[in-house]
Amino acid sequence: MRTKKPEIHLGLEGIYMAETSICSVNGIEGKLYYRGYSIEELAKHSDFEEVCFLLLNGYLPKEKEFLSFKDALVKERDLDPEVLQVITDTAGKGLPMDVLRTAVSLSAIYDPDVKDNSKEANMRKSIRLISKISSIVAAIGRVRDGEEYVRPEKKLGHVENFLYMLNGEKPSESERRMLDIMFVLHAEHSSNASTFSTIVTGATLSDIYSAITSGIGTLKGPLHGGADEAALRMMRAIGKPENTVKYINDALAGKQRIMGFGHRVYKAYDPRARIIRGYLEELREHASPEVENLTAIALEAEKLMIKKLGKAKGIWPNVDFFSGPVYTHIGIPSSLFTPLFAASRVPGWCAHMLEYWENNRLIRPLEYYTGKTNVKYISMTKR
Ligand code: CMC
Repeated sequence: MRTKKPEIHLGLEGIYMAETSICSVNGIEGKLYYRGYSIEELAKHSDFEEVCFLLLNGYLPKEKEFLSFKDALVKERDLDPEVLQVITDTAGKGLPMDVLRTAVSLSAIYDPDVKDNSKEANMRKSIRLISKISSIVAAIGRVRDGEEYVRPEKKLGHVENFLYMLNGEKPSESERRMLDIMFVLHAEHSSNASTFSTIVTGATLSDIYSAITSGIGTLKGPLHGGADEAALRMMRAIGKPENTVKYINDALAGKQRIMGFGHRVYKAYDPRARIIRGYLEELREHASPEVENLTAIALEAEKLMIKKLGKAKGIWPNVDFFSGPVYTHIGIPSSLFTPLFAASRVPGWCAHMLEYWENNRLIRPLEYYTGKTNVKYISMTKR
């Protein structure tokens, strides 16, 4: 018997699944807050480690607490030899997000707290995940470049150490600061697709490694974290600023989506994109011809998209649109953009998991069945 058709929320659009005090997104006004602090304030004054503390604990740390938090992160940086071996064996041929997902899943086996699902153990595991995932991404980048793994350097901050492990040399202060801001901007974004799948997995009372592994698999898709690489690919395909208008018009006429535009929640300019755009304009003076060209294309595309779809359809640049030229300026290859998004989103995923477990409920939505019923089974030879 078929029940009356319920209201179906495709993509769970507009559905509230929990209360949270971690992050708020105002999609109409284009505002974003982590624990009540605006993203603009945090990008200006804070750094990734402090934002991790804020997301996980709910408040900004005092100096002593911050030092001990940073120390805990530093102690977890190095990779287990078995995890490193798998990265060494696979990163040259596998997709970086597949290698990352596998390495994170494998890391659970070497975690001393793997069987302990207490709050304290999950906080320790969160710190371990935040620390190690950046090292995994750096190791993937090294192997893909045919280079040896660079061991972490204790004296460096999180982002500086990441760039050191990736390039084998310390970054300049401006590169460090720029990437630190990118990490801050990507650290959290409420119940986005990857955070949701993290929570779905954790809500079965599975463990935090399984949950984060789910999140990484979800982030990989081009409608989510994979959009930054796709946006850069498009800018490269456009080639020259003067080709932009025709390229975008043709793509839209062919019903293609322009990656790095549009958002399920923001129907205004994504505040993260606005901040990244600001940095991009600042760095233009010192940019290489390649980055200058990408920037000119990006700004041309932005102008046209806003004119065509901004006010009319609420489609504005999102966090992924201007990221590519910024990462290129810092020297990060496009194959690492989405893994880097994952490395910076770990604190958000972990904070949500810890919060959700405080009031856990299995997530199990319904589907309205539209198929046949009571179909008679016919044996294979008579079909
Ligand atoms: N380019 C062109 N048209 C678009 C785009 C776009 N990027 N995004 C949405 N539209 C159109 C879409 O075709 C539809 O038009 P119509 O009403 O005529 O059929 C309308 O806008 C509404 O689209 P929707 O698919 O119902 O919107 P959604 O809320 O499901 O989409 C989205 C959200 C992010 C999947 C979508 O905007 C998109 O595909 N963007 C490109 C991928 C992208 O940049 N993703 C990164 C999102 S931000 C980072 C993150 O959180 O991961």
